[in-house]
Amino acid sequence: MSILVFDSGIGGLSVLRELRVLMPERRIIYAVDDAAFPYGDWGEAALIARMDNLLADLIERHKPDLVVIACNTASTLILPVLRSRHEIPFVGTVPAIKPAAGRTFTGQISVLATPGTVKRDYTRNLIGEFATKVNVRLIGATRLAAMAEAYMLRQPVDEAIIREEIAPCFLDQYGARTDVVVLACTHYPFLVNVFRRLAPWPVDWLDPAEAIARRAMYLAGDAQEITEETIEDIAIFTSGTPAAPMRRLLAGFGLKC
Ligand code: DGL
Repeated sequence: MSILVFDSGIGGLSVLRELRVLMPERRIIYAVDDAAFPYGDWGEAALIARMDNLLADLIERHKPDLVVIACNTASTLILPVLRSRHEIPFVGTVPAIKPAAGRTFTGQISVLATPGTVKRDYTRNLIGEFATKVNVRLIGATRLAAMAEAYMLRQPVDEAIIREEIAPCFLDQYGARTDVVVLACTHYPFLVNVFRRLAPWPVDWLDPAEAIARRAMYLAGDAQEITEETIEDIAIFTSGTPAAPMRRLLAGFGLKC
C-alpha cells in the first residue's frame, strides 16, 4: 500500500511529515517537479498539460493506492482533470478558507499563497461559499516558495524580503486587525517561525497539513497488510538526482533519492 505525494518542490514535505505520523505503515513516494519550479508563475493551460502527463507517468510507474497533491497552486487547478483520468483517490491541498472563517474573531483573514493560487476561480469560489461574512484578503507572494527552499537547505535568506512579502497580510481597519493568516502554499509552514518573528502583531498562522493527512488516512482505508519487510520511501526529482545537501535533508524525512 503506497501513497504518492506530489509537489513542485520540497514544500510538500510539510504534508508528508503529517502523513508519516498518521500512517507509518504506508510506503511513501515523494515526487518533485523541480524542473518546473516554481509553479506559482505558470499559466493555467501549460501547467495542466504538464501535470497531466507527469502524474499519468508516475501513477503508471509506481502504482500508488492514493495520491496527495501537496501543492495549492496545482490542486486549485488540476484535481478535476486528475480525478476524471484515474480511478485511485486524490487528496488535494487547497486554501483553508473555511476553517479560517470559523476561527477569526475580528472578521479579517488573509490568505498567503502563490500568485497562481490567488488567481484561481477555485479560490474565489471557496470565499463565495464559506467566507461571505468575513473580509478575506488574498496575497500572492512571488518570492516566498523559493525562499522557503533556501531556508530549509540552511542557505541565507533576506529577512527584509520576507517582511515585505508578508506585510500585506496585516490589515488594520475599522478597529479590526487581521487575526488569521492561512498558509496557502505548502512551502510556507517551513518559514512560519520567521513569519512569527517578523509579523507586526501576533496572528493565528493556519497550516492545513494535519487536516490533509487525516483526509488521506480516511480515504486510504485500512492497510491490507503490515509487513516487517522494508520497502524504502523514495523521492524522485524531475531534474534528476539532487545535490548532497538536498539528499541529506530528504534523508531526515526518511526519503532516499
Ligand atoms: N508548494 C506550492 C503550493 O503549495 C507552491 C510552490 C510553487 O510556486 O511552485 O502552492
